[in-house]
Amino acid sequence: MVMKEELSILVQAQYPLIYLVTSEEERAEQTIDALAQMKPTRKVFIWTVTHGIVEYGQPRNVTQHNTVSPEAAVEWVIRQRDPGIFVFKDLHPFIDSPAVTRWLRDAIASFKDTQRTIILMSPVQTVPIELEKEVIVLDYPLPDMAELNQVLSQQLELSRTRRVTTEAREKLLKAALGLTRDEAEKVYRKAQVTSGRLTEAEVDIVLSEKKQLIRRNGILEYIEEDETLDSVGGLEELKHWLRQRSNAFTERAREYGLPQPKGMMILGVPGCGKSLIAKTTSRLWGLPLLRLDMGRVYDGSMVGRSEANLRNALRTAESISPAILFIDEIDKAFAGSTGSADSDGGTSSRIFGSFLTWMQEKTSPVFVMATANRVERLPGEFLRKGRFDEIFFVDLPSSDERKEIFGIHLAKRREDISRFDLDQLVMVCDGFSGAEIEQALVAAMYEAFAQDREFTQLDIIASIRATLPLSKTMHEQVTALRDWARQRARPAASSVAEYQRLEF
Ligand SMILES: Nc1ncnc2c1ncn2[C@@H]1O[C@H](COP(=O)(O)OP(=O)(O)O)[C@@H](O)[C@H]1O
Ligand SMILES: [Mg+2]
Repeated sequence: MVMKEELSILVQAQYPLIYLVTSEEERAEQTIDALAQMKPTRKVFIWTVTHGIVEYGQPRNVTQHNTVSPEAAVEWVIRQRDPGIFVFKDLHPFIDSPAVTRWLRDAIASFKDTQRTIILMSPVQTVPIELEKEVIVLDYPLPDMAELNQVLSQQLELSRTRRVTTEAREKLLKAALGLTRDEAEKVYRKAQVTSGRLTEAEVDIVLSEKKQLIRRNGILEYIEEDETLDSVGGLEELKHWLRQRSNAFTERAREYGLPQPKGMMILGVPGCGKSLIAKTTSRLWGLPLLRLDMGRVYDGSMVGRSEANLRNALRTAESISPAILFIDEIDKAFAGSTGSADSDGGTSSRIFGSFLTWMQEKTSPVFVMATANRVERLPGEFLRKGRFDEIFFVDLPSSDERKEIFGIHLAKRREDISRFDLDQLVMVCDGFSGAEIEQALVAAMYEAFAQDREFTQLDIIASIRATLPLSKTMHEQVTALRDWARQRARPAASSVAEYQRLEF
């Protein structure tokens, strides 16, 4: 595993201080112990706030004297001469204390040219500024398929369901990707208890449990969208682009020599189908859709908490990959970051920085699909060429597109729509967004329903006439957005020629 190798290289290269972010202490300890066995062998000591320093594998009462206080523990570590790895498990609440920081810096200085390393293990990343230059932060990855396979095998053995097809096994494993080892164990056990066996039929139980668990973390959300690409009117260029990449995450595409798509940004006028088309891509590509709520990433309660939230969410997304990471209205997350950089202590620009770094460096097949309504809020780096594979601009629908949108929404509500004259409707709703078209239609239906009759062409026209579209009420903003996007983004509708004709 890459992570184990990295950790082992750092230890052997005598990095004095490593910060390991994980909530899975047991797994991480096992990894550390395994690498301590390599030459030159090192002893492993674990510090907890309850027992002080205990040698790994020893009973907890075999503690080093008077090492419960963090300062004393670090001091003890400094006095050691033999090669060792010193794991501190509960240090993060104390790490901001000046004494602890000082002791850690002293330790780092005293480690020079010795085989000693301190590993700070914590579910959250909190590094004081004084240590920022000295510490290297690593994320301990969630279990991979091979490791989950051990968990599953154990569970199968316990339940004595030994005969599982290779296919069923693979599906059960894939369904648990993204969970910690403990969570996977629980989920398999629950599936087993629920239906008395663990076969392909139980994959759904595992999946729905996983969705529950992901929901509990509160930042990522599993979205199931029933609509398909066909329920989006217009946006032909964008649809074409998406269809072309339907198999972009397959092994075949890699063998062909294609790079993995990184992500796309959809900018544009509100209510024109940005969110809708992003959601339907999940079906089109057959990949799970995970919504990342940037608003919930922010947490002012503790320094570094927001970053940890983001990293956790991204890590979960990676472990479920291939997947689509949907960040709707990403501009909102940066509302506070431009102009008033210090309004939140720089948190949003830090978050934004770590997100960009992640996008830049990620190798796992997580496709980022971001939408934005207000481009002026987005930091310039975001839109620089190469960040996203493509930046699309979704404009107000053209008359042909409006016709399609009307067709789609009428057909959703009535089986036979031949009584409607779509061309006439399209004429009266010039400047309407898709959402406004839908709303006008629904309003017309309410009107007729209240009078206990079927709705008609005239009802719709009346309803359209009564609507003041955003393109009129916010004319300036919409025009500015279009001017801006014209130079920087690719139009989502059919052709550039038609796009430039679209003035109002
Ligand atoms: N191009 C379109 N085709 C069909 N329906 C649309 C279209 N654009 C908007 N709608 C309708 O309006 C709703 C809101 O659109 P949405 O995708 O949320 O807009 P945006 O994200 O661009 O603000 C959609 O769920 C859909 O019902
Ligand atoms: Mg939207």
